[in-house]
Amino acid sequence: MKSIKNLENIENKRILLRLDLNVPIKNGKIKDTNRIDKIIPTINFLLTKKARVIIISHIGRPNGKIVKELSLKPITSYLKKKIIKNVSFQTENIFKLNKDKIFKNSADRIILLENIRFYPEEEANDDEFSKKLASFAELYVNDAFSCSHRNHASVSKITNYIPSYCGIQINNEINALNKITLEIKKPITCIIGGSKISTKINIIKNLIPKFDNIVICGAMANNIFKYKGLNTGKSFIEKNINNTIQEIFSYAEINGCNIYFPEDIRVGKKLSDNSTEKNFNDLEHDDIILDAGTKTINQIRKIIDSSSTILWNGPLGYFENPNFSVGSSEVAKHIAEKGENIYSVIGGGDTVAIINSLNMKDRFNFVSTAGGAFLEYLEGKELPGIKALS
Ligand code: 3PG
Repeated sequence: MKSIKNLENIENKRILLRLDLNVPIKNGKIKDTNRIDKIIPTINFLLTKKARVIIISHIGRPNGKIVKELSLKPITSYLKKKIIKNVSFQTENIFKLNKDKIFKNSADRIILLENIRFYPEEEANDDEFSKKLASFAELYVNDAFSCSHRNHASVSKITNYIPSYCGIQINNEINALNKITLEIKKPITCIIGGSKISTKINIIKNLIPKFDNIVICGAMANNIFKYKGLNTGKSFIEKNINNTIQEIFSYAEINGCNIYFPEDIRVGKKLSDNSTEKNFNDLEHDDIILDAGTKTINQIRKIIDSSSTILWNGPLGYFENPNFSVGSSEVAKHIAEKGENIYSVIGGGDTVAIINSLNMKDRFNFVSTAGGAFLEYLEGKELPGIKALS
């Protein structure tokens, strides 16, 4: 991929910059600024080179319609504060705009276009729409790794019509992901949690040949307990999943990858309950498994100690109730304590939410800004936005 770092002579050139400013907003207030903070270096780099920047982004899923609550307006003032420059918000219909009208004032250096998903053509990866967007600028930069798994006009098709580059954050994301998929420092361990094993099965299968250890936890481990004939009480179990589990175990054996799953658990009678530690034999018919137990956490600590590289995706328990966040927070703390002795990559919306709530986001080597794109990359899928830049 051609990087913006190699761009020369861009003074006064117009750059279309695709970002993912899809951040949670409540009553006009941004609840998590992480994704925005991460792309500030890219904007500053372009401004230092005296380029003029046209930012494109989406927020939410308005399905091609104007939805007032999904306006990018609240982002404008935050961006202004971060880059200490004026940012104009352009709400005019894209089909009515042209290269000369896109900047409201000749002195403007940076504008933010309204939510690109207000146009049905965006998600349709429409040709004419992509051409129209491309006509606003001389160069295009994608720094939206977290939506590069979408085959959308401003992510993918646009690159057919304008010289295209990748931004600083995309480079960082891909370098980190390469360290856990291509240039691996072994032993390497993946801790994978979450609620449904069916949604993570392709990741597990893709990682087995490369990884030394895979620790399966969270509600998705319930399916393994059931498969192994252990008591699961009233816990959530997926249907028709035994063959998949059998496949994981035999594929891991062929590839010399150790599969671990919890040996003890924390349970409650309902999601809002207090937590009780139990062994499987003591489980009652109305118990719900909601977190990993102490023996399990100690075992995961040992696995972390013996690893040089760690990938963590998905909570170990129902962390929304603090009584069941012990497994996730202990794993976060233990990885963080390893400091420079380990290379750690954390990704996925829930996992990032956990480390944010623990105020630990700077304690890992890399924390991905992506949810779906991170998972698809780990599945070994080619991301359309990255392919388009290659
Ligand atoms: C994300 O939040 O993962 C990206 O912004 C992509 O959003 P989407 O899943 O609505 O395409």
